[in-house]
This record gives sequence, C-alpha cells and structure tokens, in this order.
Amino acid sequence: MKKTFIEPTRLIVSALMLMAAAACGPGQQSSSVGANSATSLAWPRPDPATLADSPHKQEVLYGEALVRRTYALVGPRVANAAMRYSGNNLACGSCHLDGGRQRYALSLIGAADAYPRNMARENSVQTLEQRINGCFERSMNGRALPTGSREMTAIVAYIRFLSDAAPAGLEGRGAPAVHLLQRAADPGRGAAVYSARCAVCHGANGQGARSADGSGYTYPPLWGEDSFNDGAGMHRIITAANFIRANMPYGTTFESPVLTEEEAFDVAAYINTQPRPHRSGLDRDYPDRGRKPVDAPFPPYADHFSQREHTFGPWTSMQQGQPPR
Ligand code: HEC
Ligand code: HEC
Repeated sequence: MKKTFIEPTRLIVSALMLMAAAACGPGQQSSSVGANSATSLAWPRPDPATLADSPHKQEVLYGEALVRRTYALVGPRVANAAMRYSGNNLACGSCHLDGGRQRYALSLIGAADAYPRNMARENSVQTLEQRINGCFERSMNGRALPTGSREMTAIVAYIRFLSDAAPAGLEGRGAPAVHLLQRAADPGRGAAVYSARCAVCHGANGQGARSADGSGYTYPPLWGEDSFNDGAGMHRIITAANFIRANMPYGTTFESPVLTEEEAFDVAAYINTQPRPHRSGLDRDYPDRGRKPVDAPFPPYADHFSQREHTFGPWTSMQQGQPPR
C-alpha cells in the first residue's frame, strides 16, 4: 500500500474547516485563473509507483521521498551530520503540496521544462539545480546540495518525471495572482484572520504540530526558528498571499478559495511580521534593481518607496519589476 504521508486527523480538520467556511457564505470567489483556456486541460497526477522496476524508478522514488520527507533524509536531525542540508524540519512538500503534484500549490509539474531560465534574483540564467538550491538555502534555511550528488540527481529526476506527464502549455505552477490591494496589507487585521482560520492547525504561537513520530510536522510552523528564512519567496507578502488564498486553510483549492483577497494579504502580512531566521547578504539579491519584485521586503530599491511600503504595499503605484511570473 502506498503511504500518503497525510495523517487522517489532518483531513478531518480540513473537512470541518471547509464545511465551516461554506456555512459562512459564498465569500469572494474572484480569481484570475478561470480566464485561462489552458485550465480546461486535464491536470495529471503522475505516480512514480507505476514505473516499471528499474534503477530509474528507484531514483525517482528517492527524489519523491526527498521532496515529501526532506526532514527525515537531509534534515537538521539526521544521524549523519554531513547529510544535514536542510536547516529546518519542513519538507519541500510543506509548500509544494502533495509532493509538488497539486495544481497552483507551487506545483513542480512542468518545472523541469522551465529551466534553465533567466531569473531576477540572480539576474542570470539559472539551472533547475540552482533553483532547487534556492529553496534549500531559503525556504529550508539550509545549504546547497552539491550538483551531481545522489540527492540532487534524484530530486531532478523526480521533477523531470512529474514534468514529463504534463502536456506542453499546461498551466498550474506557482499560484494564481491575487488582485493587489489598494491599501497596505495590515498585520493587525491579519492576526484576527489567523486566529479564526489558521491557529487550529498551525497553533496560536505559529509553531505547528510535530508528527506522532517526532520527525517532521503534521502541521508545519509558519514562523520561528524552524521556519523558512527572511530571504524565502514565502517571506514576500504577495507571493505568500497568492499561495495562501489558493491553498489554505488546508484542503482549499484555487477553484474555490475560502479567504477573501484582503484576508489573504492581511494574514500573509501577519505571518511575515513574526520572528524567523535571518539570511545575510540579502542586499546582494536582485543585482538589477529594476527587476526587483515590488514586494521584496529588503532594500536597496531602485525607487523612492520605503522598505515599509515595499513590504506591505500598496504596490499598485510602484513602477518596479512585477514579481516573477
Ligand atoms: C516555505 C515554502 C517552500 C518550501 C519549504 C520549499 N519551497 Fe520551493 N518554492 C517556494 C516558492 C514560494 C517558490 C516560487 C514559486 C513561484 O515562482 O511562483 C518555489 C519555487 C521552487 C521551484 C521552481 C518552481 C517553478 O515553477 O519555477 C523549485 C524547483 C522548487 N521550489 C523546489 C523546492 C525543493 C526541492 C524544496 C525542498 C528542498 C522546496 N522547493 C521547498 C516555496 C517553498
Ligand atoms: C486544517 C489544517 C490547516 C489549516 C486550518 C491551515 N493550514 Fe496551512 N498548512 C497545513 C498543512 C497540513 C500544511 C503542510 C502541507 C503538507 O505538508 O502536505 C500547511 C502549509 C502551510 C504553509 C506552507 C508551509 C510553511 O510551513 O510555511 C503556509 C504558509 C500555510 N500553511 C499558511 C496557512 C494560513 C495562513 C492559514 C490560515 C488562513 C492556514 N495555513 C490554515 C494545514 C492547515
């Protein structure tokens, strides 16, 4: 039997949350996604278990395990200190939901075909391996896997396997863009959203809940020392709001968001004003300042808007590069 890694309690709480949300009324259903004709194509659910037995299958399965149970294989508590690449006990799958297979939940389906590509953060062409290491160093608050290592090769093989299942032009990576607010995102209002909608799983203190065996998390932390660092994509309020609106509370999909757009921005602002690990040298990101995303929460900037304005918005009047994709 294939292990799903999602504990039943999680599903029950999700179902209750969704029922509660539905009972509260329709809410705002606007989404920029429906406009895209590519969404009518079927979304694949590639499963490595279906591959014929071969060394390739073993490699793809190891890659899947690294994505779903990162903490157990290369996390900060693994026995072999040389294998501690991730600095926190998250999994890649904490954000790339269902091991990167869920549409608009930062899906990795299609990602293999999107690289190498020219990225704003480095202002240079980046390989898939470099992009993966961007998440190791920031989202996982750890260090880069060596290119050519068994682990990097396996993660790439898994993402390639996922991507081979997608017809060309199928969209579903990232998360749908929420309309930018005309006001600044408000962490105070976000605190109320957090208590009402998030704390039941992620905890009032944001530290989530460990899984029964104490290795990873049933509900991952959203801030604190075991969370993503301040250089991560999730630490940008627009990026976080897009992800949260389409995917949280857990069980939500982009087709029927539970939070309003305002709630998504405010709760993202709340989460991202809590303490978390600091990454040094952020001023060297986006060396071409004109390509810096408007919501990059750290200076320097090419324009006269303050760090506070860039962090919280309103972003609509800023002339800098829009967030990538
Ligand atoms: C805290 C959340 C988080 C975690 C944990 C995380 N990522 Fe990411 N990842 C992101 C975000 C946000 C993006 C940017 C998505 C976008 O550009 O829309 C991203 C982008 C990526 C991309 C590029 C995808 C694309 O569509 O271009 C890859 C590949 C990737 N991550 C791999 C990984 C791997 C492998 C791990 C585990 C080692 C990991 N990520 C852990 C949040 C996370
Ligand atoms: C029903 C439980 C539940 C609720 C309610 C919930 N989440 Fe989550 N959340 C999860 C789970 C589970 C994951 C990780 C998914 C995985 O590991 O497969 C997650 C992952 C996340 C992540 C990415 C991982 C990380 O640690 O940063 C963010 C951000 C997040 N949730 C924000 C929120 C916000 C904001 C709310 C409230 C609007 C919320 N969640 C409500 C269960 C929940």
